[in-house]
Amino acid sequence: LGQAQAMAARARTLAELSEIQSGFEGLEIRRGARNFVFADGHPGARVMILGEAPGEEEDRQGRPFVGRAGQLLDRMFEAIGLSRDAVDAERALYITNVLPWRPPGNRRPEQAEIDAMLPFVARHVELASPDILVLMGNTPCKAALGRDGILRLRGHWTEAFGRPALPMTHPAYLLRNPVAKREAWADLLSLSARLQAGSQP
Ligand code: URA
Repeated sequence: LGQAQAMAARARTLAELSEIQSGFEGLEIRRGARNFVFADGHPGARVMILGEAPGEEEDRQGRPFVGRAGQLLDRMFEAIGLSRDAVDAERALYITNVLPWRPPGNRRPEQAEIDAMLPFVARHVELASPDILVLMGNTPCKAALGRDGILRLRGHWTEAFGRPALPMTHPAYLLRNPVAKREAWADLLSLSARLQAGSQP
């Protein structure tokens, strides 16, 4: 942990953080991964999404949330006018994961892996400096809040890394449990309202 902390502290820009983090040797899972998956979207976005870890498609492309769950994520946020492709920071998204390497067989990240990445995640949030953080599923809740239980946490605004944060159910969960989309929609509207309130002069 000390090593990750020292490495993360050295990064003064997101580009430096990506470079430095990709050289971190402390996690076994990197050996089985094809790509280091850092982030996607607009680094100046007001909203930063923190996911779990790359899956197969993300590992192949080197970009977060580009598989089936990622396509649903894009549609969800486009419904409230936000997109990773937007050039305007007001409408943009910045997307990353707790783990930058795919765990073998897409297994859940272990607590030790989450702990090892925490200094990098904290620095990532600090450097991107979003107004709002979305914690997508249990893994980012474990990292940012020190607890999980996403079905209870979702929709309740909290604070993570010193910023307003909204836990939401992961789109992979929504693909398996489509009835839960109703609550996810309520959470998106809550996010949208918060963004609008924050834009008032
Ligand atoms: N699930 C995640 O949490 N992150 C990704 O990048 C893809 C799927």
